[in-house]
Amino acid sequence: MKFFIDTANLDEIREAYDLGVLDGVTTNPSLMAKEGITGEANIRAHYKAICDIVDDNVSAEVISTDFAGMIREAEELVTIDDKIVVKIPMIKDGIKAIKYLSDEGIRTNCTLVFSAGQALLAAKAGATYLSPFIGRLDDISSDGLQLIAQIVDIYDNYGFETEVLAASIRHTMHLVECAEIGADVVTCPLKVITGLLKHPLTDSGLEQFLADYKKGNG
Ligand code: E4P
Repeated sequence: MKFFIDTANLDEIREAYDLGVLDGVTTNPSLMAKEGITGEANIRAHYKAICDIVDDNVSAEVISTDFAGMIREAEELVTIDDKIVVKIPMIKDGIKAIKYLSDEGIRTNCTLVFSAGQALLAAKAGATYLSPFIGRLDDISSDGLQLIAQIVDIYDNYGFETEVLAASIRHTMHLVECAEIGADVVTCPLKVITGLLKHPLTDSGLEQFLADYKKGNG
């Protein structure tokens, strides 16, 4: 199972990478804006800075919504670094763009996925990654994890190579349940990754071990 961090914040990316468990980064235009990154040159430089921290898999999203624009942007984005994966929205021209880019050997991440039908289309088009947004489904009283399970089953039925990248993860149990279901990848905020560390019995147990050592060794 791959762990991606869902942020454009360089300090958070460094912290997750230093933990030794990070396989990639996902960004989107909202996350870039949150870091105050605006303007083509700054955005490009920021993607490069992210690529310089991690080993691979840096998702950079196009902002065009037409086929030609998406291809132009994708071909430009992949010149930044070999680690770039082009994030393409789940719309009609997006599917055409994924097919085209897949045939060209350019890795894609199909984003804004909310149904199994959309997942089938993206896999048929040859997406490298598929990003169903589970938190946003939960937000509107739909079951995001059930969608992940459905897509994993469908992809297994036909041996699709597209990797299921569970996105819009809100808390540690989302992540743990994605692992049980068999999602290939999760992308989540730093606090969800570090949240996996936490258990009160670990803390109290360690405290006791250290106190007992101190008693015997001064
Ligand atoms: C990542 O690829 C998605 O853009 C992200 O997980 C969306 O998360 P949000 O629903 O918290 O904005």
